Amino acid sequence: MMKTELHATSPFERIPAEIFPSSEEGARWVAKEIADLIRKRSDEGLPAVLGLATGSTPVPVYRELVRMHREEGLSFRRVITFNLDEYYPLPRGHRESYWRFMNEQFFAHIDIEAENINIPDGEVTRENVVAHCREYEAAIEAAGGIDLQLLGIGRTGHIGFNEPGSGPKSLTRLVTLDAMTRHDAARDFLGEDNVPRYSITMGVGTILRARRILLLAWGRNKADVVAGALEKEPSEHLPASYLQSHGDTVFVLDESAASALTRVTQPWLVDFVDWTPERVRGAVIGLCQKVGKPVLKLVDKDYNENGLADLLTVKGSAYTLNIEIFNILQHTITGWPGGKPDADDSKRPERAQPPRKRVLILTAEPQEDILGMGGTVHRLIDQGHDVTIAYATSGDLAVPDHEALAALELGQGLGLAVGEGGNGGFAGRIVEIRDKTGFETEDSPAIREVKGVLREGEARQAMRVLGVGEERLRFLRLPFYTKGRYRRFVMGEEDVAQVRALLEEIQPHQVFLSGSEDDPSSVAGMTHSIFRRAFRQCIESSEWPADTYVWTYRGSGAEWPVDRIDMAVPLSPGELNRKIIAAFQHRSQHSQSPLAVIEQSEYWQRTEQINRRTADLYNALGMAEYEAIECFVRANSQET
Ligand code: GLP
Repeated sequence: MMKTELHATSPFERIPAEIFPSSEEGARWVAKEIADLIRKRSDEGLPAVLGLATGSTPVPVYRELVRMHREEGLSFRRVITFNLDEYYPLPRGHRESYWRFMNEQFFAHIDIEAENINIPDGEVTRENVVAHCREYEAAIEAAGGIDLQLLGIGRTGHIGFNEPGSGPKSLTRLVTLDAMTRHDAARDFLGEDNVPRYSITMGVGTILRARRILLLAWGRNKADVVAGALEKEPSEHLPASYLQSHGDTVFVLDESAASALTRVTQPWLVDFVDWTPERVRGAVIGLCQKVGKPVLKLVDKDYNENGLADLLTVKGSAYTLNIEIFNILQHTITGWPGGKPDADDSKRPERAQPPRKRVLILTAEPQEDILGMGGTVHRLIDQGHDVTIAYATSGDLAVPDHEALAALELGQGLGLAVGEGGNGGFAGRIVEIRDKTGFETEDSPAIREVKGVLREGEARQAMRVLGVGEERLRFLRLPFYTKGRYRRFVMGEEDVAQVRALLEEIQPHQVFLSGSEDDPSSVAGMTHSIFRRAFRQCIESSEWPADTYVWTYRGSGAEWPVDRIDMAVPLSPGELNRKIIAAFQHRSQHSQSPLAVIEQSEYWQRTEQINRRTADLYNALGMAEYEAIECFVRANSQET
């Protein structure tokens, strides 16, 4: 990850922000503030009233508070809590209910009194919803108001479930969920259709009445919405921006969530800066995109009129600066992702030696490897490198029941057809899936196994399309995933040990790792952290890592910003087609929604758009015109 030397404050931000190197450090800071409040209140003989949030964001805070309870005697006996929201309608026992979430993540592990817990009720009848909401408001008031409110933020800019359109005075009420929110919750509910359409949420007005508010955000996924809430005029299009009118709110961010703030993207507008090579590259490419010109056509006036006069004086003229950046960009492009043997490599992203490299591709889930670097995988193998592809997880949590059912029925049919007798347990599992009632029950280990086998089978098939033999594939099934759930994965020593053993076995010259900055609690984020720990241990104990280049790719979602790219691998039309066909093999991940196909939002369609777009961006900067490009950022050894 690129480290940002952040300025302590920024005149562009309308709410104070505390930025931490990682979500764990941010979460510890928040937990300490909560603990201090509870102790202070208790010394005064008063209860502390906490407003609590769900989602993956506050999970590390709850973990730290539970630790403080166990190890430091922090007591919650006199704490009163009010949760922000609950899906509606949803039974408490549903595995995605916030009621269950709070119990599993927090309340069951501390000494809070049950009668002091308040969560909007997803089971209340429709005619009683309004009365229930009024009672909720009254209960907050009766408790003396909220001392400290924790918030996460949705990608729509919602706080609680106050979607765009929510007014600053809104109170606890029933709301309809935004399409993006339901899309983001789809993986929890195994499909968008299963996500409830409504929720009961505290209003923006309710939240603003809290005496102090901490809004937490981790990961690149939240960066744009965080920047909007902090730097733009408050508006109902981004409900979190209403926090600007609250006198005591702090945004608690990790560096990725802060990465779209002006003090990070254009620090020269905030203060004098040291013009590091990365910063110069970012500034010039940003300028090209702003004024719509390729690098070599920028003139002094473009720099001067767009806040870059200082850079121009440091570098002398647009002419020298343009050529410098043009060359840097040009040198990121290579058709030899494993290095070009017998070529001068002083200006190439990868070394020429050794000509045949040991390459480890670590992918969080099947499919990310194809989406992020399917074309590059093909190149690496074609160019004779010794490639191993390791899947950190089977990805079974993302398999819908209907896919598992179809697979079992096929298996049963084939079992009968080849006359193996009996049904090898197929019938029992078919009944188990057919009888599942909604999502109240977890999948049994047997069903998870079926789903895992299914996804790993798709990975094999996709790799066959790329000409990659099965002997190169490793399925790690790391315990954090097999034992975990979305939004609440916990990394353990076993995970690290397994990845470390693989690294020691292969001793790779190159590692390709699926990117992490989007969301540290995601499967990709967890895999990245596990790799970092394992690799650090290898660095401490062995010599070989000194010779390893670590390349990160983005498996799904957005591609790296152009100014960060260290290696750009162009794909020919034929290579792009093959990649799309490979991505298509992950059939269990097709959304089955005709709308998704029409809107071109299926994974295999999005990967095509993303790779073409990178090529277009390079072209617009004045580079050669390619069909598509896959790209990589090199992590230096201190950061990994
Ligand atoms: C849901 C919750 C919000 C939460 C948001 C972000 O919409 N109602 O309170 O902030 O999700 O979730 P996460 O923290 O998992 O990114």
